[in-house]
Amino acid sequence: MRDGAVSSGVRVLPPNDPRQYDDLAGEWWRPDGAFAMLHWLARARAALVPPAARPDAVLVDLGCGAGLMAPHLAGRGYRHVGVDLTRSALVQAAAHGVTVLAGDATAVPLADGCADVVAAGELLEHVPDWRATVAEACRLLRPGGLLVLDTLNDTVLARLVAVELGERLPTVPRGIHDPRLFVDDRELVAECARHGVDLRVRGIRPSLPATVGWLVRRGTGGAGPGGRGRAPRIRPTWSTAVLYQGRGVRRG
Ligand SMILES: C[S@@+](CC[C@H](N)C(=O)[O-])C[C@H]1O[C@@H](n2cnc3c(N)ncnc32)[C@H](O)[C@@H]1O
Repeated sequence: MRDGAVSSGVRVLPPNDPRQYDDLAGEWWRPDGAFAMLHWLARARAALVPPAARPDAVLVDLGCGAGLMAPHLAGRGYRHVGVDLTRSALVQAAAHGVTVLAGDATAVPLADGCADVVAAGELLEHVPDWRATVAEACRLLRPGGLLVLDTLNDTVLARLVAVELGERLPTVPRGIHDPRLFVDDRELVAECARHGVDLRVRGIRPSLPATVGWLVRRGTGGAGPGGRGRAPRIRPTWSTAVLYQGRGVRRG
């Protein structure tokens, strides 16, 4: 079927086509919706960000989507600036207090060294040129500034778990990933080092019992407040082979 054709009322788009985010615009802020796992990851990513060390501190959130980090950063003292290609998501981010900029994460109209923190959550595995995105993230960071990110590794296991299995579960939209864009963790560390950021990575995964409980509750209409129950926590794990987090400081 041709790209963007309509089948049974649903538009069929190629894997990773950004127009999918417009089609899913109503899902962003539903904790039990198609982007549920992004909520869990946003919380875990925000936990890597310390309170701002100075007044007027800026956190640039590349590929911010609908601004899911915003509630977890509240009270930490940052101006939360979000950059994204998807305007329907930026409208929602703005409604959650994010200062939004429509644009490409590889060409951000902000000055070198403007950011105390740069976040790139679940972005690198969606961009055609992750190296250019990393270069831009590092350019935006002031010396001593912090880069936090999470992404999917370029492994067979990641393809199996995140695409073949994950996209069959209600926590990840089907067709949202193109595994050819997944990012090797060692190459990412080397690329960050080239741009002055010493990145440390660790594997992460959702808590398995909590995820099974969440799926059961969701499938049966929910047992918790609002019909949902508690969201699974993201835990460190020994292997970076599927999903991993990175944290690194820009050299002065
Ligand atoms: C999986 S979502 C992650 C959103 C958000 N970081 C989060 O964790 O909730 C990927 C986001 O990246 C955005 N995106 C994809 N390619 C981009 C690019 N080249 N520049 C800016 N944003 C991009 C999409 O529009 C989408 O909002």
